[in-house]
Amino acid sequence: MRVPDAGLSRRRALQGLCALVATPVPALAELPATTTLRVAPAHQSLVGIPHPDTAVWAYNGTVPGPLLRVRQGQRLAVRVVNELAEDTSVHWHGLRIPNAMDGVPHLTQPPIAAGGGRFDYSFVCPDAGTFWYHPHSRAQVQVERGLHGALIVDEPEPLPVDRDLLWVLDDWRLARDAQIVENFGAMPDAAHAGRLGNTVTLNGELAQRFDVEAGERIRLRLLNVANARIFALDFEGHTPYVIALDGMPCAPHEPQGGLVVLGPGMRADLILEAVGGPGTRHRVLDRFSRRDSYEVLGLHYADSARKPSRPKAAPLRLPANPVPEPDLDQAQRHVLTMNGGMMGGMGMRGAGGIWALNGRSMGDESHRHPPLLTLALGRTQLIELRNETAWWHPMHLHGHSFRIVARNGKALARHDLVDTTLLPPRETVQIAFVADNPGDWMFHCHVLEHAASGMMASFRVG
Ligand code: C2O
Ligand code: CU
Repeated sequence: MRVPDAGLSRRRALQGLCALVATPVPALAELPATTTLRVAPAHQSLVGIPHPDTAVWAYNGTVPGPLLRVRQGQRLAVRVVNELAEDTSVHWHGLRIPNAMDGVPHLTQPPIAAGGGRFDYSFVCPDAGTFWYHPHSRAQVQVERGLHGALIVDEPEPLPVDRDLLWVLDDWRLARDAQIVENFGAMPDAAHAGRLGNTVTLNGELAQRFDVEAGERIRLRLLNVANARIFALDFEGHTPYVIALDGMPCAPHEPQGGLVVLGPGMRADLILEAVGGPGTRHRVLDRFSRRDSYEVLGLHYADSARKPSRPKAAPLRLPANPVPEPDLDQAQRHVLTMNGGMMGGMGMRGAGGIWALNGRSMGDESHRHPPLLTLALGRTQLIELRNETAWWHPMHLHGHSFRIVARNGKALARHDLVDTTLLPPRETVQIAFVADNPGDWMFHCHVLEHAASGMMASFRVG
């Protein structure tokens, strides 16, 4: 895997300075289904003592923002109050909700004005799973400064696990004074792999340990909110089972090569059986960059063990969400070509854009352009995504989940249902879904620097 790494040595240096006692992964505060999110600058200790707090932008003063948690079929009602000095919006990533609630400024709503503007979001959550929220206004800056939070929609019946936990994975580009380096959108980042940081946090802290007890079964929800970093997590000594991707249940399976790969925006729900011995320690590594894998944190086993609380055979399969199944025989077909970047004809296609979709380079101003594709309401859509670039791209569609039906021309055995699909360089995937949600929907790369510099468009359903 060829993604250049932005010197994690500094992360190690920062880590070396603090941590006499390893910091555990913190828990996140939860908010009820009717609530207010205040968007404002804040300070937070990301890397711990002796470093100063980091100046961030935050929802209700914390990074990540509060965990929103509702039951499937319940209404979420969130008033957003913008106390920043610039406009914002909140996009509900992965939720199949009405277009007017999707949170894309100028396309689905007016921006929430700087200095006290407000907007009321209210919608029923149709699908159970792990989702998240973030601005869609200058996202490459606002998300990177700390605006993101998780949204968990619980199944009617909880899975038989001992603990249900969430890791929000992020990376930051910090200077020695622990402040964010403000070169957002710098050309070398935009034209390559995006803005990679030098400090990886879990739930907003430079956490080094995750405490487990031998014999327990954990549902571990992973969410990658980084602008650009792709994680490929290796749980040494353990075999995680993937039970959901991007919130949507899948056939339980071991990840390919033992690595849980998460591009920006993507989620995975795992079942982690704590099979280690009491008092042992196991590493969780990020192996995405083969040249520079690093330890994300350690699994620390308590000296005591518990009796495995239930037999291994207990059902781990989640109930399906009510997503319509595509009918490939009736599909409208489209081809979508991704171009640009270094070594990919960047800048050839005018307008100063670095990246392009079907030859059109649209960034944050993509709402000013006509839709790239028009999809008949109610019809199955089969879209071939061709990555003709030398870079990885997590491609995300709003308002719908889609099935990945083929890769590089070969039909797949498992048709995973996702909202974001990670395309390796020069590969092709075919995605299929029923265009059942009317409106104009964004389709873009979730490497936020790529989106801002051209890899962003809209589809019209209706
Ligand atoms: Cu997570 Cu268009 O975004
Ligand atoms: Cu991209």
